[in-house]
Amino acid sequence: MTNRQATAIDRVLAGVRVMPVVVIHDADHALPLADALLEGGIKAMEVTLRTDAAIDAVARIAKDRPEMTIGTGTIISPDDLARSMDAGAVFGVSPGLTDMLAKAAALHFDDCPLLPGTATASDVMRALEYGFERLKFFPAEAAGGVPMLKSLGGPLLAPKFCPTGGLTPENAGKYLSLSNVFCAGGSWLTPADKMKAGDWAGITAIAKDAAAL
Ligand code: 3PG
Repeated sequence: MTNRQATAIDRVLAGVRVMPVVVIHDADHALPLADALLEGGIKAMEVTLRTDAAIDAVARIAKDRPEMTIGTGTIISPDDLARSMDAGAVFGVSPGLTDMLAKAAALHFDDCPLLPGTATASDVMRALEYGFERLKFFPAEAAGGVPMLKSLGGPLLAPKFCPTGGLTPENAGKYLSLSNVFCAGGSWLTPADKMKAGDWAGITAIAKDAAAL
């Protein structure tokens, strides 16, 4: 049977192997950042809802850079999902999953699918019960890294993961080589110092390397 959430994530993130997890402090950085990533071959980005500028940044990218697939991260409540959708996000990412969030997200599997965070076999089983088959594995390195993800894939065949948390240019390729990994995410593509300095060429250079992984 086809899984609605997996179908929607696979459609929205088709061809996306690397996902920048971005913290934007200044909404004026939104468009130049999106352009820098696009120029580097990165076509989807997650803007974390950790700053006051985040929602405005998402809205600007959704409106003016339709070629960028824009989602939000750090979704911890149904309200976070609702305001993300209002801003134009087409997917969401959460660090974990609660009953309340799972029920709210199930209403939007088709129009704004949520990628919920999981770290253990029980987390994954619970997410499957709620109808999620595309999951985030977080915090990837701290929760056991590549060996843990490989082990989860033994008994749990259906889900595919996007690991985030502690990924680097050095270890991302190892995650991407696993058969139950569809995408690898992290903040390494948009370092805080380069963001602060508006070093868009520097970010394009990192993006090019990441897109080649
Ligand atoms: C996060 O939610 O912060 C992401 O998982 C990114 O983690 P990283 O900064 O270790 O890449």
